[in-house]
Amino acid sequence: MSNMTTSSAPGKIILFGEHAVVYGRPALAVPVTQVHADVEVSGAARPGIWIDAPDVDLHAELNTLPSDHPIASVINNIFFLSHVSPFPNLEIKITSTIPVASGLGSGAAVTVALTRALASHLNHLMTDEEVNAFAYEIEKLHHGTPSGIDNTVVTYAMPVYFVKGQPIETFKVGEPFTIVIADTGISAPTRESVGDVRKSWEAEKAKWENVFDEIGDISFAARHVIREGWVKMLGALMDENHALLKEMTVSSPELDRLVKAASEAGALGAKLSGGGRGGNMIALVEPEMAESVSLSLMAAGAKNTIITQVT
Ligand code: PMV
Repeated sequence: MSNMTTSSAPGKIILFGEHAVVYGRPALAVPVTQVHADVEVSGAARPGIWIDAPDVDLHAELNTLPSDHPIASVINNIFFLSHVSPFPNLEIKITSTIPVASGLGSGAAVTVALTRALASHLNHLMTDEEVNAFAYEIEKLHHGTPSGIDNTVVTYAMPVYFVKGQPIETFKVGEPFTIVIADTGISAPTRESVGDVRKSWEAEKAKWENVFDEIGDISFAARHVIREGWVKMLGALMDENHALLKEMTVSSPELDRLVKAASEAGALGAKLSGGGRGGNMIALVEPEMAESVSLSLMAAGAKNTIITQVT
C-alpha cells in the first residue's frame, strides 16, 4: 500500500434542461475544471480515521460523525465494499475550491474524489461505472431525489447528455466555446424549487408536460448545435430555455437581472443554471468578450464569476 493516495474531481454546470430532467427529458451538463475537490489519503501515526476538511471546518475522527453524514457514509461504505478489517489508521485531507450549494456540484465532486482516493488506497478497484453508481447513492443522502446528473458529469469529467435512468452518453464539442458563470450569492435549496415545480405539475399536468417537452427539444437541439460547432445558435437556445424556466417560477429578480446584464454586455445568450431562485447563471460569450461580460455581471450584483471554456 503506497503511503499517500490522491484524487481530484472537477465542478460541473448544467447548460440546458434543468428541472425538465427530473421528468425524464434530456439535459446537458459539462465539467468546470477551474474549480475542483481534492482528497489525500495517507496512513496515520495515531489510531483512528482522521478527517480534515478545512473548507467546511470539519476536523474529526470518523466515529464522532453521525453515520448519515455524507463523508462518513462514503468512508464506511468504501471500507465495507473493500472488505478491509480491521479499519486501518488514516489521515484524510479534503479540500475544495468549488463554491458550496450553488449548483456547481461540490457535494458530488467531494464524494467522487474521496471514493477514488480511498478505494485506491485500499487497493480496491472501482470502474467509473461503479464510482458513478456509488456517488449517486451518496447524492441521495444530500439531496433526496436527485436526477443523477451531478455525479455523472463529475465522475466522467466529460460533457454529458443526460437522460434519467439511461446509460450515460457523452458528446463531442465541435468547436470550443466560452461561458461566464456568475453567482448571485443567494443560496437556494434545489429541493425547494424542485418541490414547487412538482406542485405546479400536479395541479396542471398537461400544461407542464408541454413545457418540459419544449425544454427537452432545446436540449436535443443544443447537443446537435454543439457537436456541429455552431456556437452562435447556442445563445438563442439559452435565451429560450431561460424564458421557460422563468415561466416555471424558478428564476428570481437577481437571476433575471444578471441574464439581462449579460445580454446587454454582448453575451450571445444567457440563462439560469441548476435549481434556480438563486445560485448561478451562465452566459455564452465570444472569448474576447469574456472579461467585459464578467465585469458587467459583477456590476449588476454578481458575487463571483468563473470564465470557463467548454472543450
Ligand atoms: O442546482 P443543481 O446544479 O444541483 O441542479 C439541479 C438540477 C435539477 O434539475 C433542478 C434537479 C436535478 O436533480 O436534476
